[in-house]
Amino acid sequence: MNREQISQQHEAFLASAERAQWVPADYFRRAALSEIFLRPAPLEIDLGCGDGAFILAMAARFPDRNFLGTERLLGRVEKVCRAIARHALANCRILRLESLYTVRSLLPPGCASVVHIAFPDPWPKRQHHERRLFTDEFMLALHQVLAPGGEVLIKTDDKPYFDWIERIISRAQGFTRIEWIEEEGWPKTDFEKHFLAQSMPIHRARLKKI
Ligand SMILES: C[S@@+](CC[C@H](N)C(=O)[O-])C[C@H]1O[C@@H](n2cnc3c(N)ncnc32)[C@H](O)[C@@H]1O
Repeated sequence: MNREQISQQHEAFLASAERAQWVPADYFRRAALSEIFLRPAPLEIDLGCGDGAFILAMAARFPDRNFLGTERLLGRVEKVCRAIARHALANCRILRLESLYTVRSLLPPGCASVVHIAFPDPWPKRQHHERRLFTDEFMLALHQVLAPGGEVLIKTDDKPYFDWIERIISRAQGFTRIEWIEEEGWPKTDFEKHFLAQSMPIHRARLKKI
């Protein structure tokens, strides 16, 4: 391959990575799913997808589903988008936006079959608790964005935050808590791999919309 061909190939790769990021046409109206994915398919959302190990593995494993990740840090969004381009995952896109706003105000109601929330920032200091993702308002937004029978899968290493989450989900209307037995070889998130390597316990909750 000559220099020009290498340069063209690189340009194509960069364009493909750019396309992997979903930039809404209008942040102040609800989007239609057809604006995000050309092909209709069950949608799974990964809120705070971080460096993307989980969403990338899920998108590769389930090509018949669509995956949308949210992430607020630009460097992480760009990294995951490059990986999407590298692996040609047409069923996976990343949105650089705050998670609550995305599920409450941007996505259409009833659009998601599963919402994954893995290792949300625990904000351990008392004066920072108001920054935590899990609130009553967030639970209402999750209920709204899920399709009937849709599920929320939550994981955290942080026991005090898990206790907080359990209090919030116990008073949320329209969900039932169900057992979660993870399949052998199920994809792990980046943080999960880190905590598992240190033999730290992982706390989980699985909710079903009723
Ligand atoms: C602790 S990391 C976990 C990342 C990934 N889920 C994992 O398990 O490896 C939390 C991620 O969520 C992102 N994040 C935190 N709050 C967010 C919010 N409100 N909206 C979007 N992303 C958020 C952070 O930037 C970070 O990448």
